[in-house]
Amino acid sequence: MSIQVNASNRLFHLQTKHTSYVFHVIEDGSLGQLYYGPKIPFKDDYANLNTREEHDCTNTRTDEDVEFQAELLKQEYAGLGKGDYRYPAFQITYPNGSRTSEFQYRDYELKDGKARLTGLPSTFADDSNDSQTLTVKLADGDLELQLHYTIFADEDVIVRSTTFVNHGKTVFLNRALSAQLDLPDANYDFIQFAGSWSRERHLHRSHLRPGTQSISSLRTASSHQENPFFMLARPHTDNNQGAVFGFNFVYSGNFLDSVEVDQFDTTRVLIGINPDEFGWKLNSGDSFQTPEVIFSYTDNGFNALSQQLGAFYAQHLINPHFAHQERPILINNWEATFMDFTEDKLMPIVERAKELGIEMFVLDDGWFGHRDDDRSSLGDWFVDEKKFNHGIAGFAKRVHDLDMKFGLWFEPEMISIDSKLYQTHPEWMIKTPGRGQTPGRHQFVLDMSRQEVVDYLFGLMSHIIQDAKLDYIKWDMNRNITEMYGADLPADQQLEFSHRYILGVYDLYDRLTKAFPDVLFESCASGGGRFDLGMMYYAPQAWCSDDTDAVERIKIQDGTSYGYTPSMWGAHVSAVPNDQVGRLTSIDMRAKVAYFGAFGYELDVTELSDEEQATIKQQVAFYKQYRKLFQFGTFYRLETPDTSDNVYGWETVSHDKQTAIGMRYQILNGANPAYIRYYFKGLDPERRYTVNDGSEVFSGAELMNAGYFVPRVMNRLQSPKVPSDFHADMFIVKAVD
Ligand code: DGJ
Repeated sequence: MSIQVNASNRLFHLQTKHTSYVFHVIEDGSLGQLYYGPKIPFKDDYANLNTREEHDCTNTRTDEDVEFQAELLKQEYAGLGKGDYRYPAFQITYPNGSRTSEFQYRDYELKDGKARLTGLPSTFADDSNDSQTLTVKLADGDLELQLHYTIFADEDVIVRSTTFVNHGKTVFLNRALSAQLDLPDANYDFIQFAGSWSRERHLHRSHLRPGTQSISSLRTASSHQENPFFMLARPHTDNNQGAVFGFNFVYSGNFLDSVEVDQFDTTRVLIGINPDEFGWKLNSGDSFQTPEVIFSYTDNGFNALSQQLGAFYAQHLINPHFAHQERPILINNWEATFMDFTEDKLMPIVERAKELGIEMFVLDDGWFGHRDDDRSSLGDWFVDEKKFNHGIAGFAKRVHDLDMKFGLWFEPEMISIDSKLYQTHPEWMIKTPGRGQTPGRHQFVLDMSRQEVVDYLFGLMSHIIQDAKLDYIKWDMNRNITEMYGADLPADQQLEFSHRYILGVYDLYDRLTKAFPDVLFESCASGGGRFDLGMMYYAPQAWCSDDTDAVERIKIQDGTSYGYTPSMWGAHVSAVPNDQVGRLTSIDMRAKVAYFGAFGYELDVTELSDEEQATIKQQVAFYKQYRKLFQFGTFYRLETPDTSDNVYGWETVSHDKQTAIGMRYQILNGANPAYIRYYFKGLDPERRYTVNDGSEVFSGAELMNAGYFVPRVMNRLQSPKVPSDFHADMFIVKAVD
């Protein structure tokens, strides 16, 4: 596994443990795609993959070379204007207004390892030797194009990005996507994770059809509505078997994931910054670096893909300081008090939480300015002394004195009209001259593309972090941008605004995480509205959704788990009836869903019955015992024979296969059902295990193949009758040898 270059044939073969990716220089000097999929041996030439055929009614390269037809070729990074009419990876306006490019191969560079990008979140290989980076350089006059490829051999991941460098007259990038992949057929299902606020990342699967199908965002955030992660899978692929490509984007702003099936049933994948609302002026000497895209492939189904992506993020994307660090069990006051609190009202919650074993108190929205509702104070990151008469540091000290960690909520990118910040710096608010302003949650957005805004926020936040000795920050973002306009930008650079905004957000994250390396950040955007790998680079966990109802959360966490791993999502037990759907579920069910994630509570523990508090104490103790397994074990979604969305199964297995926890969730109870079996995954077939400390001993093979009998949820014999819908069965499997 390595990158092999055949210099005379100008052929590049990238190999990971189980995959190969091959491309080469073609007749017109550009790059042609040859193959991506299961590993094939190195060879000097793959002429047979390089199909050339004369078709009627298409353009040819020259009158003589009639078999070279751009729209029939698999290309590596295509432009427009040379006869390939599929959507291109890039488009440039040249000084004379033309848009046709002719990039030709120049040379390449091969290096061990993978450097981080500057100014953008990125993958890295700080201490590993399983990676190699290839940069292929092409030129079109004074313009240089660099295509970067890093193989991460052990995790079967290839990371791609692109750099444009201008050595000549000013040009404009109209479209500069990060990567393209042309596949030779279209027999794939497009699997994406769509939804809305409080209903994020539900799985949607549809077979590819002719034409372009895409997911995207124009919200200057990756969005609740469509997540940048998607898969292309063969139609029979399921969790446990079958071919699947996974694609993810290390970016938090406007994105485009486009899949085009052309007239010959080939498939073009394009991923990058959404070209709508994008443009970049490149003066002489300037360069533009795109964000990175992650490609991964497996023959072994969705679980294997999720697992290799998870292993990859932990090694090469998440801040190494936190990547393997167990996350604290927290209690957040949002759903307990909303903004109606004082130090005296909060302290009993903190103290009771401590008694129950909870490790961190997180003070959510409402502690600053004069914020008693959501109409004021954003931008005024000074404590409200009416609520905290000893300042935030005084309150933090009381929490710390109980030997608990302390976390604080910020929404740095926002400004309220009713704020001191707006009185002093109205010009920092994003607005378009001569146009009205569109509020969202009664608030507006700061222009993060301005250095002085980032400096201001860095100054205030740093002060509070030091003053209160914060252990954790919840960085929220509760509305999307409207009236996009950068007051500092000239007219011909206004299309740079949305990307520059995100670069400002990254700059602030970068400075804070470097200055305070021990502070754990959790990103949030009204729940999961910016749940992406760009955020995860800085903040290793993200609030998954504002919907904490156990049933809704099963669907959200299940969808999220395809492209992300449990340590990456915050999951809390909240009060019932649930805030979003009014549903009543047991505290047992709520916890059994939230265990799979960075676990916590979001309710007023002092208002619970003694019995419920005792249950919480047990849950906290239980989670501490198995936290590593829940957060960092090998995660499986289980196929169940039930196809009605009524039953879900998850399992986590320790890396040494010593311990596993399986969960079977049943949403509605059924009358007199058939026998139910739970089929475990990932155990050692040869080892002997017990289930729930029972006396019977099973081989791993038996538990995986014959399954484990699950008693049905009885109601008929129960007296008094208790609700039996929304039920979770948990199986703790321990090796006994
Ligand atoms: C939206 C978040 O998702 C909630 O958890 C909470 O922090 C509120 N914002 C506070 O305004």
